[in-house]
Amino acid sequence: MDVYKIKGGKPLQGTIKVSGAKNSAVALIPASILADSPVTIEGLPEISDVLTLQALLEDIGGKVEFSDGKMTIDPSEMIAMPLPNGNVKKLRASYYMMGAMLGRFKHAVIGLPGGCHLGPRPIDQHIKGFEALGAKVTNEHGAIYLRADELKGAKVYLDVVSVGATINIMLAAVLATGQTIIENAAKEPEIIDVATLLTNMGANIKGAGTNVIRIDGVKKLHGTKHTIIPDRIEAGTFMIMAAAAGNGITIDNVIPFHVEALTAKLREMGVEVEEREEQIFIPKTKNLMAVDVKTLVYPGFPTDLQQPFSVLLTQATGSAVISDTIYSARFKQIDELRRMNADGKVEGSSVLLSGPTPLESATVRASDLRAGAALVIAGLIAEGETEIQEIIHIERGYSNLIEKLKGIGADIRKETISEKASISE
Ligand code: EPU
Repeated sequence: MDVYKIKGGKPLQGTIKVSGAKNSAVALIPASILADSPVTIEGLPEISDVLTLQALLEDIGGKVEFSDGKMTIDPSEMIAMPLPNGNVKKLRASYYMMGAMLGRFKHAVIGLPGGCHLGPRPIDQHIKGFEALGAKVTNEHGAIYLRADELKGAKVYLDVVSVGATINIMLAAVLATGQTIIENAAKEPEIIDVATLLTNMGANIKGAGTNVIRIDGVKKLHGTKHTIIPDRIEAGTFMIMAAAAGNGITIDNVIPFHVEALTAKLREMGVEVEEREEQIFIPKTKNLMAVDVKTLVYPGFPTDLQQPFSVLLTQATGSAVISDTIYSARFKQIDELRRMNADGKVEGSSVLLSGPTPLESATVRASDLRAGAALVIAGLIAEGETEIQEIIHIERGYSNLIEKLKGIGADIRKETISEKASISE
């Protein structure tokens, strides 16, 4: 089993570069299925979720080349191969194979997706959208079967604002006949990124980034070239790290507007945040004050940054409450942080943290992607050597993390240890 070992307390300084957005990448890659000629996507992060999607496209007959963050996908010979098991189980975003394959082939079989365990993560809104477009959707032995004679544009009102459902319905609707209107749509920058790719492929989409998206179906989509947006969650993770353990850190390749909710919270805590065109500079922070945080859909404070932010609160003076309104059980990092001497208590869908507490090194487990990011930040602060197990979750979403952190002075390395040394659940 691979682990990260981090010797904390080193002065972190310099520039750290953000990669392309994971949550865009995992939708842009399946979107290529809808084209009839090669699609090139530049700036992709080198993470295992991207490699898994590459394998999924190859499973259905796609020809894919991927190097230096540039992926060229030739979808012309793809077939509607059923994907009930295997790679689809490795990531949550394999659900985008449903919308894309339904859109192109009018039928698909996709195993129920895997991904991080953050509490209930239903896909009923995706299915409601596919059914509104005329698909018959059934769940047979853990795989979703989608079939349609014809996909016809329809009005879909989402009961919950969902990133995945908004994108998936867009994917299924771009080649449908007539107009689809998604109401109460999610507004995340990743949705705009996917709509931009689809538009450059020939789709007719208006309103992406607002809560009403109108899609006029077209007969066919062609290949194109697209550059992905920077990862606002990776940028936010580095901003939190800079506030917690930095001695002057520039975060490069960030769109400051995408991380405004975090910037506002950091400033409320006493952190200086200097916004530049495509960079954010955070000088050394002296006194952190505790602030309450409630996660909300974009442009509110992102649930994906709540876990890393909890580490910062252990270093702030006073008590604070984090409430996660998106995922009620996304607090698995707290037990691990307690091993490191943090004062945190989970109550329902909230956590109460008091500080400041000096963190101590320990052997901890990354239960999910952002919990893992939180533990890396904790390890960078803590005295002594922290060992983080189950880093497979971290590597699903953070590209070249070790090299990036070493570049700003962190003492971090990856090691393989025997399974016997692992902490059991
Ligand atoms: N929901 C439903 N029904 C649905 C879909 C969602 O009830 O059909 C609920 C969810 O249970 C949740 C809320 O709606 O409470 C929002 O879920 P959403 O569908 O927006 O989440 P997602 O699309 O599955 C994406 C990101 C997550 C991120 C969330 C929220 C991808 C691949 N994943 O998930 O990213 O936390 O949006 O912003 O885009 C991560 O990067 O660590 C991560 C988990």
